[in-house]
Amino acid sequence: MSKQPIGVFDSGVGGTSIWKELHALLPHENTIYLADSKNAPYGNKSKNEILDLTKKNTELLLNKGCKLIVVACNTATTNAINYLRENYNIPFIGIEPAIKPAALNTKTKAVGILATKGTLSSELFYKTTNIFSNKIKIIEQVGEGIVPLIESGNVESTQMKDLLQLYLKPMLDADIDYLVLGCTHYPYLIPQLLKILPSHVKIIDSGEAVAKQTKAVLKQHELLNTTNNTPKLQFYSNGNPKVMMQLLEEDYTVDYLDF
Ligand code: SIN
Repeated sequence: MSKQPIGVFDSGVGGTSIWKELHALLPHENTIYLADSKNAPYGNKSKNEILDLTKKNTELLLNKGCKLIVVACNTATTNAINYLRENYNIPFIGIEPAIKPAALNTKTKAVGILATKGTLSSELFYKTTNIFSNKIKIIEQVGEGIVPLIESGNVESTQMKDLLQLYLKPMLDADIDYLVLGCTHYPYLIPQLLKILPSHVKIIDSGEAVAKQTKAVLKQHELLNTTNNTPKLQFYSNGNPKVMMQLLEEDYTVDYLDF
């Protein structure tokens, strides 16, 4: 049993979509969330830049005593999770696009994936999709411009609607019946996506699976907090804390931290 906090970081506010699932499943765990909004988006950066930012976030969370870290960013996971696991002595949970359930269940044999350039061009992503790409059609789309709009609080803007229509068109032309969200910022787009997608197209994100995996790994390492304590929930952002507070939709305090 451990009362040490679970650390969660992302290139900004998107990882709060993962944090919400974690908190719902593990309501007594203390958590520390880091939003590296100052450096968002990670998706267009080089692998080395992503590694450096990932190390910086990890070390900050380790200095705050975290017992496990959730890398709540697909781009950071696909580019740096192996490095983290090899170089730091705590468990890490990463986020990978949920291609497998989509690929196994598609009836039209066509699946769309919306993610960042950094995720779609990574070796890990290539290895995962390669298993399925001779059986189904995978339509990849870089979500260029989406993360900056979410980071600036413009989730429901006309600009966002236009971008989504543009990015989904080739997928709809290919008759997809599953859309995989390969970036933790994108679950915040689900209300807009539902307005554009035909009703038979299912949207898959990784939040619930990540929460379950976190619980299993904590248990395996005997790190679960089994008390009924009211948890200490800390949120830090090096961007505008108000954007994060809006997305959290609860009365949580987000503190500005220069990191
Ligand atoms: C980004 O920073 O470009 C998006 C984060 C992600 O890939 O989840």
